[in-house]
Amino acid sequence: MSAEFHFGGDYNPEQWMDHPDILEEDIRHFHRMGINTVTLNVFSWAFLEPEEGRYDFSFLSFVIKRMGEEGISVILATPSGARPKWLAAKYPEVLRVTDDRRRMLFGERHNHCYTSPVYREKVRLLNERLSEEFGHAENVIAWHISNEYGGECHCPLCQDAFRNWLRKRYGSIEELNRRWNNAFWSHICRSFDDIESPSPIGEHKNPSLALDWKRFVTYQTVDFMSEEIKAVRKYSELPVTTNMMYDYDGLDYSRFADSLDFISWDNYPSWGTGFGGDGVLVAADNAIEHDYFRSLKNKPFFLMESCPAATNWQPYSHLKRPGVLEAASLEAVAHGSDSVLFFQMRNSYAGYEKFHGALIDNSGRCTRVMKEAEELGKKLRMISRVKGSIVHAEAAVINDRESRWAMEGAAGPRNAGLHFRDNLRRIYLGLRSCGIDVDVIDSEHPFDGYKLLVVPMLYMFRSGAEQRLREFAADGGTLVVTHWSGVADECDAVYPGLSPHGLADVLGLYRTEIDALADGKTNTAVPAAGNKLGMKRSYECSVLAEVAELTSASPVLVYGDDFYKGYPAAAVNSYGSGRAYYIASMLEEGFYADFFASIIAGCGIEPVVSGLPRGVFASRRTDGEKNFVFMQNFSASEVILDSSVASGCRIIAGSPERLPSYGTLVFEK
Ligand code: GAL
Ligand code: ZN
Repeated sequence: MSAEFHFGGDYNPEQWMDHPDILEEDIRHFHRMGINTVTLNVFSWAFLEPEEGRYDFSFLSFVIKRMGEEGISVILATPSGARPKWLAAKYPEVLRVTDDRRRMLFGERHNHCYTSPVYREKVRLLNERLSEEFGHAENVIAWHISNEYGGECHCPLCQDAFRNWLRKRYGSIEELNRRWNNAFWSHICRSFDDIESPSPIGEHKNPSLALDWKRFVTYQTVDFMSEEIKAVRKYSELPVTTNMMYDYDGLDYSRFADSLDFISWDNYPSWGTGFGGDGVLVAADNAIEHDYFRSLKNKPFFLMESCPAATNWQPYSHLKRPGVLEAASLEAVAHGSDSVLFFQMRNSYAGYEKFHGALIDNSGRCTRVMKEAEELGKKLRMISRVKGSIVHAEAAVINDRESRWAMEGAAGPRNAGLHFRDNLRRIYLGLRSCGIDVDVIDSEHPFDGYKLLVVPMLYMFRSGAEQRLREFAADGGTLVVTHWSGVADECDAVYPGLSPHGLADVLGLYRTEIDALADGKTNTAVPAAGNKLGMKRSYECSVLAEVAELTSASPVLVYGDDFYKGYPAAAVNSYGSGRAYYIASMLEEGFYADFFASIIAGCGIEPVVSGLPRGVFASRRTDGEKNFVFMQNFSASEVILDSSVASGCRIIAGSPERLPSYGTLVFEK
């Protein structure tokens, strides 16, 4: 791959195939903007195989060649995300069945059964041909497998596959009945054939079934993807990726990482309108995802899609204000992306996405967006030596999909919303306000190498999580565990005994109850007299308030109201050569900044930059020898930087004196 950041994005020129002049016009614009990479073929199946078994790669071949002549690299997609009509008409089994057992009609995209042998076979044949034709083309640099895998199918083929998957997992139906507690409501299964996927017209209140179904959907999707990968690998060694989605609840992406060479994801934040327009929260929320995707493989990832202007599917097609495009793009780079790619290079002239932002709009003229992209291209070339470097975080926060499925699928303790993401964002902001890099990891990700590990609402402990957390603290790590952790096992059965399961002695306390506070209702966390962190302020608690009985821990904050007044809202315990902190509720944002500021030095983590005001973030990429520091300001006003921040450092981009709103400073340290 090239020494420069990949800059460009999705390009679907088959929409103006009969207008070669448009393609040439686009190429001129690409050069003006410094575009060096396009993603082709994402939705081209109907052109590649107009009739069953008749392949026609002439247009694709022409476009790839034309890009090559212009020095533009191609990320080549397999087009399985949308199928041609002939396929659905001849083989209805390729169409999805919904959870209420209705077969879908042809239409939309991602509307296929990932179990169907016919679908798998047709995709295999096409992918192999693509591999043979283009797997060695000089300017093709990677395979983009399908597009945003997602959704589920409840057809008879999928039911069978699910039953087989359960058979392997449980061995016997008796074991499944026991683990799921099917004695409840007399739902004992006589054999695996009794099992049906969750349905609104059938079983939809069995949380263990729901959880295993979600796991199966991930398993089957990864299996489908692996077959696609095998097919493109037939004649090609190029690296493979698939584009993933923001906090997507339908799949556990941690299970995809091993099958892919690099991770990529599609990033569509609501700049200007999300979180009441607070850009700091948008930036933090976004950064959580960048860190999550980076942490999947602990190496550079690709920003595969982002919108250069305004999306057409969000509540508001809010224009990116001048500067936002650059800040958002460099945020991805700061967190470890080796690309800035957009959806899309040129607008469709009709169809669902005709109003979706693009670098080139239907006027074909040079626009404001294009000018900003041109400037961004220059910036990316200025910082190109950063490419390939990695982020080495010493702190991590757990964001575990399976646990969230189980926690969010359970009836209680707060069906009006557990606010996991909000809680996570507050914690993340608190950590980042210390000027440190943070990995966002699954609970099965190794913990060694971290000095601080935060475990927010990890409802499910599986695969010996409690043992690994215990060892982490015993070995000198700083562990922070919040409310509603260690409740259930991998089948969503409640652990017997003290909770958080297996950690009561590590935390020096155990949970007795958890109280749900209605929207708008709060409690207060007040400083415990003489607390070890020297906390002096009171903070608002909301959403959930856990009540715990202390054994060896000492309180840091205590509840100020209600019958559990005086019970710990935060506590600290020494364990082995480490320390374990406990937080009992969702506290206001400011708490997490104060809390982490008071413990960070004790964790032994050296901040990238310290003393950051709210909205200014610092991150660091390293190539083993050189460190590249990124500072970004997502607050609404300019920040004057302390002269010590970059003193003696080589400035790569931006000013070391002042960081404008949405400005970025990059220096080598
Ligand atoms: C993505 C998708 C693209 C395009 C884009 C519009 O989710 O992969 O094909 O639809 O959204 O924002
Ligand atoms: Zn199916």
